[in-house]
Amino acid sequence: MTTPTPIPLGYPGAQPFATASYPGLAGRVVLNTGAGSGIGRAMAHAFARHGARLMLLDIDQAALEQTCAQLQQAFPGVEVDIVQASIADDEAVERACAATEARFGRIDILLNNAGISMNKPSLELTPAEWRRAIDIDLSGVFYCAQAAGRRMASQGGGVILSTASIWGLSSSANRLAYCAAKAGVVSLTKCLAAEWAQHRIRVNAICPGYTHTALMDDLMARGVINGAELCGKTPMNRLGRPEEMAEAALYLASDAAAFITGHALVSDGGWLAQGY
Ligand SMILES: NC(=O)c1ccc[n+]([C@@H]2O[C@H](COP(=O)([O-])OP(=O)(O)OC[C@H]3O[C@@H](n4cnc5c(N)ncnc54)[C@H](O)[C@@H]3O)[C@@H](O)[C@H]2O)c1
Repeated sequence: MTTPTPIPLGYPGAQPFATASYPGLAGRVVLNTGAGSGIGRAMAHAFARHGARLMLLDIDQAALEQTCAQLQQAFPGVEVDIVQASIADDEAVERACAATEARFGRIDILLNNAGISMNKPSLELTPAEWRRAIDIDLSGVFYCAQAAGRRMASQGGGVILSTASIWGLSSSANRLAYCAAKAGVVSLTKCLAAEWAQHRIRVNAICPGYTHTALMDDLMARGVINGAELCGKTPMNRLGRPEEMAEAALYLASDAAAFITGHALVSDGGWLAQGY
């Protein structure tokens, strides 16, 4: 196994992290997928800090329990529950949405965030690997959007926020399935925004650049990517922080973004602007 590339810890060059406040998020019911790790876990913390009520969804029960325990410790009195499901299973997604409704009465905000990476030369990509990436990273996002969207439409509105990627707006060798799925998420975001504005549902996406999460650690450990090289290619010369992606999610989910729909917000330290 390749030795993991050391990541520049402490995010050199980053300013101390300052957060905004969105009082309107208090009491909102949030269904947060991929909440067991990384960006999803950071989103759970950020929305709990704002007094939202949270249903955490992940395929990994132990990770879910860990996020839940963290929230209960950090935010005493937080209303939080967990549901284990794979977003690639449309029936499990429907059951998870029903469980959220049963527990909290409604779904105001869907953080449609769970996803996997898929890095492989296209000549070697197997049909099973292609299907796995598309099933989770694209179809899973659709199943969650549709199941939550139906409830939002009947309750008179809501917000859907999907985690796409810079690779949904750009392209790269050896990432065909991931790029195609994430480009699909950006397209789905725009289609649903146009279609569901009549139901007062706003639909947006965030497009993170390379962000220091377990997904990245795994790719670095397997030698698929080189952290130091990625930092060097990023104009801000560092990786993103999960908390920074959560901050973008807070804004887009809040009423401060009331007229924003169909948008894919890039948070990448200048990666796309640089043109790689
Ligand atoms: N980390 C990055 O650099 C980066 C960059 C751009 C986009 N993203 C996207 O951000 C999202 C979160 O990524 P992360 O870096 O936090 O990854 P992560 O691996 O740290 O967390 C992903 C979570 O999703 C869960 N998950 C995986 N498959 C699932 C399934 N079928 N059903 C339910 N849950 C499932 C995992 O168990 C995990 O808890 C993903 O959609 C990813 O593509 C990440």
